[in-house]
Amino acid sequence: MEKKPVNSATRSLATQLLFLISSILYACALATSQELLTGFKASPSSSVSSFQSLLNDSTSTFSLGFLRANQTQLALTVVHLPSLQPLWQANPTSSFRWSDKTQLFFNGSLVMSDPHTRSFWSSGTSQQGDKVVLLNSSNLQILQQQQQVLWQSFDFPTSTLVENQSFTSNMSLVSSNGLYSMRLGVDFMALYANFKDGKTQQMYWKHKALEAKAEVVQGQGPIHARLESDGFLGMYQTGKTPVDIQPFNSFHRPIDTFLVLRLEPDGNLKGYYWAQTDWVLDYQAITETCELPSPCGSYGLCRPGSGCSCLDNRTQVDTGSFQCIDGDDQSGDFCSGSDDFWAIRRKGVELPFKELMGSDTKSSSVEECELSCHGNCSCWGAVYNNVTGFCYLVDYPIQTLVGVGDESKIGYFKVRATRGGHKKMKAGIRVLGAGILALTGAVLGYAGYKIWNRRRTWPKRVLEENAEVSPGPYKNLGSASFKSIEMI
Ligand SMILES: *[C@@H]1O[C@H](CO)[C@@H](O)[C@H](O)[C@H]1NC(C)=O
Ligand SMILES: *[C@@H]1O[C@H](CO)[C@@H](O)[C@H](O)[C@H]1NC(C)=O
Ligand SMILES: *[C@@H]1O[C@H](CO)[C@@H](O)[C@H](O)[C@H]1NC(C)=O
Ligand SMILES: *[C@@H]1O[C@H](CO)[C@@H](O)[C@H](O)[C@H]1NC(C)=O
Ligand SMILES: *[C@@H]1O[C@H](CO)[C@@H](O)[C@H](O)[C@H]1NC(C)=O
Ligand SMILES: *[C@@H]1O[C@H](CO)[C@@H](O)[C@H](O)[C@H]1NC(C)=O
Ligand SMILES: *[C@@H]1O[C@H](CO)[C@@H](O)[C@H](O)[C@H]1NC(C)=O
Ligand SMILES: *[C@@H]1O[C@H](CO)[C@@H](O)[C@H](O)[C@H]1NC(C)=O
Repeated sequence: MEKKPVNSATRSLATQLLFLISSILYACALATSQELLTGFKASPSSSVSSFQSLLNDSTSTFSLGFLRANQTQLALTVVHLPSLQPLWQANPTSSFRWSDKTQLFFNGSLVMSDPHTRSFWSSGTSQQGDKVVLLNSSNLQILQQQQQVLWQSFDFPTSTLVENQSFTSNMSLVSSNGLYSMRLGVDFMALYANFKDGKTQQMYWKHKALEAKAEVVQGQGPIHARLESDGFLGMYQTGKTPVDIQPFNSFHRPIDTFLVLRLEPDGNLKGYYWAQTDWVLDYQAITETCELPSPCGSYGLCRPGSGCSCLDNRTQVDTGSFQCIDGDDQSGDFCSGSDDFWAIRRKGVELPFKELMGSDTKSSSVEECELSCHGNCSCWGAVYNNVTGFCYLVDYPIQTLVGVGDESKIGYFKVRATRGGHKKMKAGIRVLGAGILALTGAVLGYAGYKIWNRRRTWPKRVLEENAEVSPGPYKNLGSASFKSIEMI
């Protein structure tokens, strides 16, 4: 660009001036461009190490761009620029490669595609938009004719809610690992865990509207929630008077900074404000670690004040991964009919959110409670209260239990012992063998007591072999005897 005026030495002063002015104007337009127009295209650049900015808001606090997830993957996100904290993400379940083949374009809809992994995301705007803007609230909008909002990121929150963003009853916040979600009910907000392959969701935290200033009126429509600049999470039904307020630490303390609410990968819901260089914790829904949905992982035991151990106390907890049970996959249920299990029993344990569990029944004894779980293929465990007689059934793979001093609370937990072809086949052969032996035994028993008496040791040995499949500390008490019941 600079070469041209040098070459055309004969160019008049006026032309040069005009050129200069237009260059300056062009540069200004580039620097302050706060919209993407139809035809916009961008691909990740290999020279960028963390975040490639594509569109800023007017204050340069927020930016739409490619955020590197790791060496190979990226996410299309709106980030808070000073912290590079993602506030919104296009499609949390798709993986886009950091490659120049991956492309973001705007053709009326905002579209992200990676031909290699066939990942695709589109805003799916039904009408054609004219431009994309990023507001100073971090809301990304697709507009038509300057005014009409065709699509906005605020309608599709991911794990984070920002100040002044409305959260309606048809939305959900989902933690970045996909395990936990937040939704609104008729007159409450609640957190749910997806412990069972997405089939059932276990509620683990519930906050009902206090209705101090306004009441939830049936038939007046669903409630919504909003994170208010004044430092609280409000729930509303109609009008501006909240039906509930959950105050942050900064409640009513005018701090002129940016607030966010995020559903964390550990299942907690936390509020933060930005203090120039750091995010400061301002609110948390769950304050006791042991009340989190699974603070010590599967088959873990959380003791208030003393941290994690394992339900099976022979196992050392691996503090890195909290792995109390390794090997077989502990997921799904036992209803396919081919899964063997053994059991862990432990006194002094409590379900962390038993008051939110649907399936509590009365049992007259701990044995009855255990049996009702043992014979129920969708049941993973049971906790019996020897004082009240309540029997709580767990219908998802066992997570962390809470350790309590009260020995009258007795837990029974299934552990999957075999899954998949090889082991299943071996178990199958064993069961078949046992069946044949049992039949032989019966026939021979019919034929004569003496012959039967000689063969008696055979089925016994089979039972013992089978018992080896259940390496639990309580195999003699529990699963082995249950298993022999099953075989007959
Ligand atoms: C957005 O702002 C950041 C920080 O000021 C800057 O580095 C980046 O280039 C800007 N992005 C765009 C698209 O203007
Ligand atoms: C990058 O992250 C994705 C998902 O976030 C994961 O599937 C992939 O294995 C990771 N790749 C590397 C090299 O860590
Ligand atoms: C924009 O591109 C996507 C993906 O190629 C396509 O499905 C969609 O129809 C296009 N929209 C318009 C308005 O051309
Ligand atoms: C954000 O934009 C709105 C209008 O677009 C304006 O009233 C408000 O002052 C802006 N806020 C900040 C922090 O710049
Ligand atoms: C979600 O609910 C809001 C009101 O609560 C409504 O305006 C909006 O249309 C709903 N969106 C969808 C996709 O149902
Ligand atoms: C393991 O737990 C059992 C039953 O709760 C208890 O009797 C035993 O003493 C415990 N062993 C250790 C090493 O803590
Ligand atoms: C089986 O257990 C589940 C919980 O795991 C419970 O909801 C269901 O009612 C139980 N079924 C029977 C027949 O007890
Ligand atoms: C349960 O309670 C009964 C009577 O209160 C008592 O006899 C029994 O030992 C208790 N069982 C356990 C396992 O604590």
